[in-house]
Amino acid sequence: MTETASSPFDMVVVGGTGDLARRKLLPALYFLHKNGQLSPDGRIIAVARRSLTSEEFRDQVTQISQRQVPEADLDDATWRSFLERLSYMSAPTAEAANYEPLNGRLQEAPGRVRVFYLATTPKLYGDLSQALKEAGLITEASRIVLEKPIGQDLNSAQEINTRVGRAFREDQIFRIDHYLGKETVQNLMILRFANVLFEPLWRAEHIDHVQITVAERLGVEGRGGYYDQSGALRDMVQNHLLQLLCLVAMEPPARLGQDAIREEKIKVLRSLRPILGSDLTLKTVRAQYREGVVAGEKVPGYHQEPGIAEGSSTETFVALKAEIDNWRWAGVPFYLRTGKRMAYRVSEIMIQFKKVPHLIFDDRLGALQDNRLVIRLQPNESIKLAMMVKRPGPNIRLKPVHLDLNLAEAFADRTPLAYERLLLDVIRGNATLFMHREEVEAAWRWVEPILDGWGHLGNRPRSYAAGTWGPESSIELMVRDNRSWYEHLA
Ligand code: BG6
Repeated sequence: MTETASSPFDMVVVGGTGDLARRKLLPALYFLHKNGQLSPDGRIIAVARRSLTSEEFRDQVTQISQRQVPEADLDDATWRSFLERLSYMSAPTAEAANYEPLNGRLQEAPGRVRVFYLATTPKLYGDLSQALKEAGLITEASRIVLEKPIGQDLNSAQEINTRVGRAFREDQIFRIDHYLGKETVQNLMILRFANVLFEPLWRAEHIDHVQITVAERLGVEGRGGYYDQSGALRDMVQNHLLQLLCLVAMEPPARLGQDAIREEKIKVLRSLRPILGSDLTLKTVRAQYREGVVAGEKVPGYHQEPGIAEGSSTETFVALKAEIDNWRWAGVPFYLRTGKRMAYRVSEIMIQFKKVPHLIFDDRLGALQDNRLVIRLQPNESIKLAMMVKRPGPNIRLKPVHLDLNLAEAFADRTPLAYERLLLDVIRGNATLFMHREEVEAAWRWVEPILDGWGHLGNRPRSYAAGTWGPESSIELMVRDNRSWYEHLA
């Protein structure tokens, strides 16, 4: 597939030797290169602390990033031409003096789009922005990309936003939530706003509740140091799950433009009912995995993972009941659940519709299952609508079946990586799939009282065996409301 190439650009990846750059960003850039989506003279300049030559850096990229690309998508000539775009510069600290040498290189093409991608710890975002500014690198056509998490809480997020805001205008700041780059997540908007079918039903009158599950089989994967300071609420709920909730719950925006969509999402975040006091124990569950068996393999518990503090009470699983206090969603709970070391990897949104108002079929004809729409984000992207039909035969017998749209099969092409779309959008200057400052802060305003509340309760997280669906109390959260978690099929 060849598409129109982007405008010419220079992309400076700060933290270019890190995990994110090598495992996610560079493979995504390779695919964009391969598909002809990058301007032929676009350059990628990796910056990191280590002292390396560009040649050594390219060798490392071949060793590490190439492994992320399936063999069928690799060919030597394309890989070599991709490497020609790459160069390396060492900057031992986040100070302007270290970034001044970049000026010479960037001045070779002064007018082009300049992207500064900060693939570093968020603690450096403020210092790095200042260094880039003082080194005179920020032009009118410059953008900065910030990886999540933006801060550890509202205060630190505000501080980062303010400090980055001193160097870059808000429209130059691209805050990434890679879930928004996933094809099926974008499809949510198309499903809702390009079809007339769902919108009239998309409200409290017809929807009983919504479930959003993001389950992973992986543990903390050598990121113990980061994860132990973070936990599932900060790592997944504050960003990915709340973004999914926003896309399900927002009002139809007037236009596709970035401001219109972001405004609607902010309204949802501001309508989330705070979880305070006794609600904390009724509406939230946090837990930590112990050893168990995942996909037939024995795996260690959270406490045995490297980089985890002794006695750590960081949660690796969260289940929550969120409520949106607005006209459309009054009385419709949104149950959110995410965890590491779960039975299998699945990200899914389930919209449970209400019962038919008057049922003419009695129980003996088969149990009625209320309609539900299941949007599978990964793996095997699909959209399923569970409906009742008649079982073939001389008598009336009811049976639930799925109207099944298998997106993975319908579009046999490779599904682009989330980062491909997002990196291209940064170069194009399209911020629709990125988070506005207000969004990040509104999400923290809702999440922070939960973190504080857990801190005050002072109890330890529940425990669950690796390879399961979390602790009993997650099931109880639903049972209290006479509901149950949707069973995800692998
Ligand atoms: C990241 C989290 O943002 O998302 C990780 O920091 C998590 O802990 C990852 O594993 C999940 O992303 P995906 O695309 O594999 O669902």
